[in-house]
Amino acid sequence: MIKEKYCLFTIFGATGDLAKRKLYPSLFRLYKRGELHKHFAVIGTARRPWTNDFYRQVIIKSILELIENEKQAAHFASHFYYQSHDARDTKHYITLKKLGEKLKKDYYINDNQIFYLAMAPQFFAGIVSHLKSQHIIMGKEFERLIIEKPFGSNLKTATILNKEITKSFPEKDIFRIDHYLGKEMIQNISAVRFGNLVFEALWNKKYIDNIQITFAESIGVENRAEYYEVSGALKDMVQNHILQVLSLLAMEAPKRFKEKEIRKEKIKALRAICKYTEEKALKNFIPGQYVAGDFDNQHFLGYREEIGIAKNSTTETFVAGKFFIDNERWQGVPFYVRTGKRLTEKGTRINIIFKKVAENLFNEQNNRTALPNVLTIYIQPTEGFSLSLNGKEIGQNFQLTPLKLQYRNKASILSNSPEAYEKLILDVLNGKRANFSHWDEVARSWELIDVICNAWDNYPQKIPTYKAYTMGPHEAFELLEKQGRHWEWKPDEWYIKRGKL
Ligand code: BG6
Repeated sequence: MIKEKYCLFTIFGATGDLAKRKLYPSLFRLYKRGELHKHFAVIGTARRPWTNDFYRQVIIKSILELIENEKQAAHFASHFYYQSHDARDTKHYITLKKLGEKLKKDYYINDNQIFYLAMAPQFFAGIVSHLKSQHIIMGKEFERLIIEKPFGSNLKTATILNKEITKSFPEKDIFRIDHYLGKEMIQNISAVRFGNLVFEALWNKKYIDNIQITFAESIGVENRAEYYEVSGALKDMVQNHILQVLSLLAMEAPKRFKEKEIRKEKIKALRAICKYTEEKALKNFIPGQYVAGDFDNQHFLGYREEIGIAKNSTTETFVAGKFFIDNERWQGVPFYVRTGKRLTEKGTRINIIFKKVAENLFNEQNNRTALPNVLTIYIQPTEGFSLSLNGKEIGQNFQLTPLKLQYRNKASILSNSPEAYEKLILDVLNGKRANFSHWDEVARSWELIDVICNAWDNYPQKIPTYKAYTMGPHEAFELLEKQGRHWEWKPDEWYIKRGKL
């Protein structure tokens, strides 16, 4: 039986997009499952002068697709309270404290508290220090901080931020969100690796030729120009999500499948990634920016033509690169990564490309050689695995033919499976930290990314471009071709064949 969790949530940035799209629906799903029931309350704060009633209407609107009936929605929403708040004004924390104390009594919550920072990062440090100085956190029961990205904008700023927040919260109570770590198939990476001897035995430089991680998005910059112009694809996706996934793929087997042991191995893997010199970073990392393009009879603007974007912006909307890991298991195996906006298709997938068998055996009798085996992990939108093999073509002659074993989760399973944010919030309620980024991981990731950013800043070059709805600039293809390799996943070919691209 599910035991309901007692907690007062305070969400900073309660009127924002993230809160509406992800947090409220996730809290509602937890409520439906009974994880939250009677003894919880949520204070939403932001600058806008909303009333409780208006806030509750916003909550109901955000969960409309999930509700069974209006009564249920209204009951859930009645746990939400709005407090208009200027994050820099000490007075407001006094009001916040009063409201929190009252709600804790009204809902018999004890002193369990979760603070969710879902707003612009320049406010993070100020909010956290006020929580302490105004005695909103008092060291009673659990007091946990959930913090959204970006965690700093380079190692220096991230270190300063970390120093600030650790004055109020110990590392064990800081939950740095990387929502990819809440995704079912990211969590599945360890199951595939360590649960199957066929893979675990081959998971090394002797059998693996290269690993490719693609995080493709078909959306453009949307309404996030202000953030994206200073972030760009490298900081937006590689510093956090991609390096987290890479560490899960590359780490050694943890002694036990427990938080501390997994974390230790992930940190070791990140530390073993070669840190480039600026010259090498330039050769190994390719930025790109989308220009206008047509897809399926629709015209799409270029990045520089989007609202809020500088006409001469050099922000990268795409990045492809290559990491190496300097340890016994991975020496010499490239980990190729790529991500970008306005690529051909939304798709997150990992391709593990195994080495080829000795060709001679088959070459003598037929003109087809064995293709390398490829294990693909589909993260989204579909979830599953495939393994490509070589078999014999039916018939008199001995002719090799490629085969594919596939397992994709059915839509019905997917719609019932918990959403990433739902899982992560429940982890926080349970004090489980395995799916959050530890400071040591964040710091190492910045170290690796800073070199690439510095290289791009110090050796400015014309940014390579790609047409909207293609898979990136040609330099990103050359990165692999120079070494006799290619990107395994080519969604653009599918659309070209059908005349849509
Ligand atoms: C976010 C990035 O972290 O991840 C966005 O800031 C990106 O730019 C998003 O669109 C992608 O997440 P998902 O879950 O839609 O793949």
